[in-house]
Amino acid sequence: MDRPALTLYPNLRTVDCLATTLLSRSDSEGCHGDTGYFSYPFSIPRYGENVQNWSENRVKIIRVKIDKYGITACNSLSTLDRRVCVAPMMDRTDRHCRYLLRLISHHVLLYSEMIPTGAILRGDRDRYLAFHYAEHPVAVQLGGSDPQALARCAQLAQEYGYDEVNLNVGCPSERVGEGGFGACLMAEPQRVAAAVTAMREAVDIPVTVKTRLGVDDRDSYEELLEFLQIVSSAGCHTFILHARKAWLKGLSPRENREIPPLRYDLVHRVKRDMPALQIILNGGITRLDELEAQLSKVDGIMIGREVYRNPYLLADVDRRFCGSTTPAASREAVLEAYLAYMDGQSRSGVPFRRLAHPLLGLYQGVTGARRWRRHLSEYASGFRTDRESIGTVPAYRAAKESSAN
Ligand SMILES: Cc1cc2nc3c(=O)[nH]c(=O)nc-3n(C[C@H](O)[C@H](O)[C@H](O)COP(=O)(O)O)c2cc1C
Repeated sequence: MDRPALTLYPNLRTVDCLATTLLSRSDSEGCHGDTGYFSYPFSIPRYGENVQNWSENRVKIIRVKIDKYGITACNSLSTLDRRVCVAPMMDRTDRHCRYLLRLISHHVLLYSEMIPTGAILRGDRDRYLAFHYAEHPVAVQLGGSDPQALARCAQLAQEYGYDEVNLNVGCPSERVGEGGFGACLMAEPQRVAAAVTAMREAVDIPVTVKTRLGVDDRDSYEELLEFLQIVSSAGCHTFILHARKAWLKGLSPRENREIPPLRYDLVHRVKRDMPALQIILNGGITRLDELEAQLSKVDGIMIGREVYRNPYLLADVDRRFCGSTTPAASREAVLEAYLAYMDGQSRSGVPFRRLAHPLLGLYQGVTGARRWRRHLSEYASGFRTDRESIGTVPAYRAAKESSAN
């Protein structure tokens, strides 16, 4: 039987691209329901769904949506808005944390934790790559150095619907270094270029690199420029620069995030010397005023630890930097939507502790924040794992009341 195809939109490549566009808009039809943003009669297409099997009615609804929002954005993924990004952080920015952050800002670009290629190729792919469509726009960060393995993982990431693939060339951990990837790759620009070439040949989504200003004694400005020139000639045009060097021997990863001094001046200089590259500055940004000041000198800012400590920091981003006129969701609205999401996730077996962790900082800076954190930690290690147990406790109510005033 002939089905109405989306032939009016010949550029529509995959269902997830469409979802990306629709979900990046919030209006009266998009709301935070327990399955994400769409509780409206429109059921969101799932990744990989065969467009040819859609009913006529569904195609009609989707056409209306496309006409309303335009299709351009979803097919120009290379124009992903990277002005405000949330950094990849192991054991932090998992899919649940990203879901929470997306409830706070519709526009920031979210990055996954670093996923080593071996874990994807030999492990449980869904565990590492699956994510909720509401997380868009979302980038996956890969750790690895073998071009073929990276290319295959990039391909899989694209199939799962990620909007960007990022290569980690900045992690200073000894274990990662022993695997021959992370920051030690700064000393092997040709290898990174080969990896970028292989990944770009495998996917249509943008391939980007996150790196440092240097490693060990390879830390001159000229060596940094040489690295960027070689890797960009392989087709990587976006670099996230953690604005400090790394010491591979002698400093732990944590110390490597604190001890080597921040050199924003060098990041600005890179942008001036290589203006065609998109340069995203990372490291030490904790306030939106600082972020705004830096934005006049580079193309985007990536924030890591502060977002985890205080996720509600992102509440002003959409209005301040992305032209949104919609008021930010209140902490309570975010919490309610996340609790609904937690319900669904706990039912499918995700441990409460993992789901609750991203909530720890939600009330940072308001009265009751400490009680809220203590309460959540107690429950996370305790017995009650249902939503009611959070919603009825005094700490939550206190926090709720104080932020309502
Ligand atoms: C707990 C933790 C885990 C991290 N994991 C990663 C990672 O997987 N990949 C990566 O590129 N950087 C990782 N980073 C570094 C951050 O992405 C970021 O570069 C760094 O924290 C500096 O930014 P900030 O000062 O805004 O936090 C991690 C940082 C922290 C605190």
